[in-house]
Amino acid sequence: MTKSGKKVISVIGLGVVGLTTAVGFALRGHRVIGIDIDPQKVRQINEKICPIYEEGLGKAIKNVEIIATTDHGQALDSDISFLCGGTPPKADGSIDLFYLEEPAKQLAEVLRMKKSYHLVVIRSTVVPGITEKVIIPILENSGEVGICINPEFLREGTALEDFVAPRRIVIGENDRRAGDILCNLYEGFGCPILRTDFKTAEMIKQASNAFLATRISFINEIGNTCKELGIDVYEVAKGMGYDERIGSEYLRAGIGFGGFCLPKDLTALVAKAKEVGSTPRILEEVLHLNREQPLRMLELLKRHIPSLKGKVIGILGLAFKPGTDDVRKTKAIDIVEALLDEGAQIKVYDPRAMPNFKKLFDNKIEYTSSDGVLTADAVLILTEWDEFNNLDYRNKIIIDGRRILKAKEARIYEGICW
Ligand code: UGA
Repeated sequence: MTKSGKKVISVIGLGVVGLTTAVGFALRGHRVIGIDIDPQKVRQINEKICPIYEEGLGKAIKNVEIIATTDHGQALDSDISFLCGGTPPKADGSIDLFYLEEPAKQLAEVLRMKKSYHLVVIRSTVVPGITEKVIIPILENSGEVGICINPEFLREGTALEDFVAPRRIVIGENDRRAGDILCNLYEGFGCPILRTDFKTAEMIKQASNAFLATRISFINEIGNTCKELGIDVYEVAKGMGYDERIGSEYLRAGIGFGGFCLPKDLTALVAKAKEVGSTPRILEEVLHLNREQPLRMLELLKRHIPSLKGKVIGILGLAFKPGTDDVRKTKAIDIVEALLDEGAQIKVYDPRAMPNFKKLFDNKIEYTSSDGVLTADAVLILTEWDEFNNLDYRNKIIIDGRRILKAKEARIYEGICW
């Protein structure tokens, strides 16, 4: 603890979640040590350069003191360690715990040398049971250690905003002392704090992401029918959203949900449900709909250009959503693969995500400007970046997967669900 009563916090794993957690606590006056195995990332953070494109974080990092290091031993100087490693999917749909387990083992080694109490907080998203079955055994012989699970509800693109003004904080605990320390750390965040056992906290996170994904697939299914009936699904969603029982969020119809979290968390929950003998019918259908939805873009395109062989197709937007350069599980991947299969030539533009997309498709497609994309025979809009509202779409064929209203001026305009 520092003299002012603030804590010393170590954050292990500096991806979007870890870095946001580190910056967020530093902004609240705590002393933060950031630990990551990637030396380049560590160097950038020490130079106050944000290693990822994440709106808000880049500016904030310049105004806080975070000591970044690759040395897990530095956690010894902290009161609380947050484990923030990613939990990517394995081929069978379950999650790979390597980036959580390995740092936990290293931390366990370090904490064996500590003489006083230390709180370890799991921030990574895991299926119910992992803290008890995997993390506790790793840490149990490490002296006086308390454990909590504190799932994050941070959206990429607005992660720092979500950290600073959360809608709720969930603390999973199995001893009061650990829970009280974490609860005190979150004092003044101005939102409800729910304290539960480990498994419940883990399930709250999984069920929340599954529910958001379900709403998206639901509105996409309604939208597909609306399209055929000549109804604007955005008007329908607006009308539904006035009902507080329904609410208006996560009802933006489009090409489906991408990103690192919703798809893999849903797949992991499906795998877990099956493992315990449950039949996750709704969740499996949500995933199924989400796989099919982006391919509707090609169906709509073919209503105007029946054969895509040799045609130049432009794509505006590659990131899985605006405000980030993240292309993990972006629907642009499925669409580009399908277009390449059809023999189309592809020109793409994204204000932030082109370097990451290049790593996936290299020179199979052309990377250009928005004007370059608009010279194509037809253009698909796949991410709703604001700047796409300033382009000149007249005389073009536009298939819009994300609702860019300006594009309605096109000679031929098709919205995916409207
Ligand atoms: C999601 C959750 O929203 C966070 O609460 C959670 O903490 C995070 O996963 C995580 O588990 O770490 P994120 O993946 O950053 O956050 O993205 P979202 O903003 O939820 O969007 C996911 C996808 O759904 C995007 O492709 C977005 O375009 C799409 N979406 C979202 C829609 O198609 N329609 C909508 O109405 C909303």
